Amino acid sequence: MASNSRLDLAFATPVIVDRVDNAEAINAALEPLILARRQADKGIARSNLGGWHSDTGLLRWAADAVRPVVARMVELADAHVVDVQARPGQRRGWMLDAWANVNQTGAANAPHSHGASFWSAVYYVRVDEGEGGELVLNDPRMPMIEMHAPFLYFRDMGGERLVRLRPNAGQILLFPSWLVHSVTPWQGEGLRISIAVNLSAPPLAGGQ
Ligand SMILES: [Fe+2]
Repeated sequence: MASNSRLDLAFATPVIVDRVDNAEAINAALEPLILARRQADKGIARSNLGGWHSDTGLLRWAADAVRPVVARMVELADAHVVDVQARPGQRRGWMLDAWANVNQTGAANAPHSHGASFWSAVYYVRVDEGEGGELVLNDPRMPMIEMHAPFLYFRDMGGERLVRLRPNAGQILLFPSWLVHSVTPWQGEGLRISIAVNLSAPPLAGGQ
């Protein structure tokens, strides 16, 4: 290849993978709160197929336990955006909406996106031994990207067509809310417990 060639990235999709410090202690506090809520409340129907999806008041009913997780999500969300409307030093902040998911054996989540937010984040509280339970991200360039030559993939350009992420407890994932995602059926014996947080961008304080 000619030495003066250059590779530019255009229209890249960020998928941020991180771990929370002190995850064992955080999860030991979070799990009983989530399971107690699941006992007391039948939850709501969203993308969940057989699993329990809590109401969206997680930040109230698990406020103290979830704080370090949400703080890290917000740090990541801030670090990976540039706000071209904010004045120097001005921070817009995020509006948060959060819930818990408990998938027992066989439960899954159907493909969906979150139209009312910018970032979607997930944190894994518990993932027992077993197959399945992967987070699947769908390539927004489908079906165009595989129409002509489905046997060709771009080299070193990250995931293409479908990305499957195998979660583990203590992990955070952050991706754009418009990215269609789903969860494959959990085939483990135990539980797969996660927390989902949507971060939306409010108007700047003090107007424009
Ligand atoms: Fe989602």
